[in-house]
Amino acid sequence: MLHTNLSINEKGHLCLAGQDVCDLAEKHGTPLFLMDEERIRSNARTYIDAMAEFMPEGSRPLLASKSCCFKKLYSIVAEEGMGTDLVSPGELYTAAAAGFPLENAFFHGNNKTDADIAYAIDSGVGYFVVDNREELDSVNETAGKKGITQNILLRLSPGIDPHTQKKISTGKVDSKFGTAIETGQALEMCRYALTLKNVSLKGFHCHIGSQIFEYESFADAAEIMLRFIRTLFDDCGFTTEMLNLGGGFGVRYVESDPIIDYRENIKGLAGEIKRICRELSIKEPAILMEPGRSIVADSGLTVYSVGSVKTITGYKSYVSVDGGMPDNPRYALYESDYTCLIANKADREPDFSATVAGRCCESGDLIQEDVMLTRPERGDYLAVLVTGAYNFSMASNYNRIPRPPVVMLRDGESYVAVKRETYEDLLRNDM
Ligand code: LLP
Repeated sequence: MLHTNLSINEKGHLCLAGQDVCDLAEKHGTPLFLMDEERIRSNARTYIDAMAEFMPEGSRPLLASKSCCFKKLYSIVAEEGMGTDLVSPGELYTAAAAGFPLENAFFHGNNKTDADIAYAIDSGVGYFVVDNREELDSVNETAGKKGITQNILLRLSPGIDPHTQKKISTGKVDSKFGTAIETGQALEMCRYALTLKNVSLKGFHCHIGSQIFEYESFADAAEIMLRFIRTLFDDCGFTTEMLNLGGGFGVRYVESDPIIDYRENIKGLAGEIKRICRELSIKEPAILMEPGRSIVADSGLTVYSVGSVKTITGYKSYVSVDGGMPDNPRYALYESDYTCLIANKADREPDFSATVAGRCCESGDLIQEDVMLTRPERGDYLAVLVTGAYNFSMASNYNRIPRPPVVMLRDGESYVAVKRETYEDLLRNDM
């Protein structure tokens, strides 16, 4: 099947991590997020091992928390030895509550408030990824008041469009994130950062995009960043310790997506970085990466119960499920591809073309259009595969729908990592 943790058992039911998805749906109810803990761990280990093997000392992956965020996940990735990238005080609060070692946390965001900055410094966040000059001043001032020196990276925009593999000199420079290299503002910002007493500049960050299937785009970005690092060295003798290349390696959502070998890609990228550093005669910085999707996406799937099956004569059929855009807004937002199947008929040929719709009072609440399913009936279980990234984390209570639980699978057992929201939870803040 699409990923090696998916299979079909003797009853013809879909299994995740060897466990019957229909049995889990009976036990925990629907809609339901299932996550395969061992798959998260093995994805983490792939990055950790390859980065340790092929990249300079100190190189390591950081989980992009935005892809999925709850306490147990932080414990899992911390146990494996990943750091984390946090983009909000809420993610920071969750990581801290999980006991995540915050010295391994990188605090992102293009608009950190003064309160966010103070909170992150008080929490002992290892590194700020500083986006802009106002933030730089605020971090420096707050660190000074608290009597510490805060480690920082500066977020730069290298001007790369990963999908065309071309260095675009204007397009991506026009971004709300970071400071542009091309305009000279990045160099100016570094010179300024180096004059500040309460911050210690350790290196640079960039992020070029998502669903990238070949390392060459990362190598293009790395080359621009490393040339900048050389320029800065010539300008003021500054030696860069860390280069963070962001996230973005792709994930297979449907059969037509390529299969990606992360280890080989990391090896290829490491080779390019080594070559460029040699050419530029600079010391190789430690490399950081911020995978989100490629750590959690293929660990997860969503199970729904099928409700109405409606055929509009001469047009098409709609299969409605008991979730939708509140637990998976990605089709509505990006027309993302997903693989859907009837979990209790997984061994039968798909013979019915349908659009899978959610339960919200909104016509754009679709999960996938025109997919082939085994003829669905009310009460069937419909699974949407590869939903471990950006589904739970982007879920909302639109239409006052409680969010599904996250149930983790490990060693033939299941446990609840995040409880299903109740109607009472929905009223928690209503006065
Ligand atoms: N680092 C930074 C600075 C990022 O902005 C992102 C994603 C990542 C790491 C992780 O990228 P990944 O490895 O997961 O591709 N909500 C969207 C994706 C937006 C991601 C934005 N940044 C989605 O559902 O696909």
